[in-house]
Amino acid sequence: MGKRLSTGIRSLDKLLSGGYPEGSVIEICGDSGTGKTTLGLQFLSQGSEKKEKGVYISFEQSAADVQATAKTFNMDMKNVEVIQLAPDNFEDTIERISSLLNRSKATRAVIDSATTLSLYVTKPEWMTRGALRTPKLTRTLYVPGEGDERRALYSLTSLIKQSGVTTLLISERREGGSRTAEETLRFLVDGIVTLRSMVLGEALNRALEVNKMRFTPVKTGSLSIDFGKNGITIVK
Ligand SMILES: Nc1ncnc2c1ncn2[C@@H]1O[C@H](COP(=O)(O)OP(=O)(O)O)[C@@H](O)[C@H]1O
Ligand SMILES: [Mg+2]
Repeated sequence: MGKRLSTGIRSLDKLLSGGYPEGSVIEICGDSGTGKTTLGLQFLSQGSEKKEKGVYISFEQSAADVQATAKTFNMDMKNVEVIQLAPDNFEDTIERISSLLNRSKATRAVIDSATTLSLYVTKPEWMTRGALRTPKLTRTLYVPGEGDERRALYSLTSLIKQSGVTTLLISERREGGSRTAEETLRFLVDGIVTLRSMVLGEALNRALEVNKMRFTPVKTGSLSIDFGKNGITIVK
């Protein structure tokens, strides 16, 4: 069934026939505070323990903040590089991501987040080439539409796939909210893991769902999760 990379959570590995399929792009989606960053760091630190290189690319949180989160969970970050990128425009940023993935010798990566990155989609590619090349004008006058975002997300996932690095692509999805570009991303990725938190009475219930995982028979359903001293754990 192909090689698997451990998720960093033993019972999640079991559910996924050993872990995320090697070379796949997995979308980790959820609201703010549901544990996306933690799940990403667990994946990288699991690799780091086995001397596998990992790279965490952050667009919003500083590298120091991401490292601090890893530290609160005592995660092994020796072989993990945390990089903060300021996304100025989409094309340049995905070029940089692609060269980081290709030159870092990483086997695992986390990109935080596709949502932030897609805010920087500014213009369709045909406008940057050929006779209609008026960058300044198009940047100020052109309002990007859903189609541009979909093309951009397609380039992003294609570049990641080409690199062969197993990647968790974080997506900030609000409950109920859904945009066409986000729906497109769901078709482009190899797997989807959703994190949720629900307030029930006084309790905060956290859950993890596997919504899609190529090459993997998954008995879908929701798993109860909790934050333990080393990160997210599955509650039996
Ligand atoms: N040591 C901890 N114990 C319990 N919960 C924690 C701990 N550290 C962080 N959390 C919880 O984790 C959440 C943030 O996790 P994070 O992975 O940064 O989420 P996201 O990236 O989805 O915003 C917070 O809402 C907080 O409740
Ligand atoms: Mg986060």
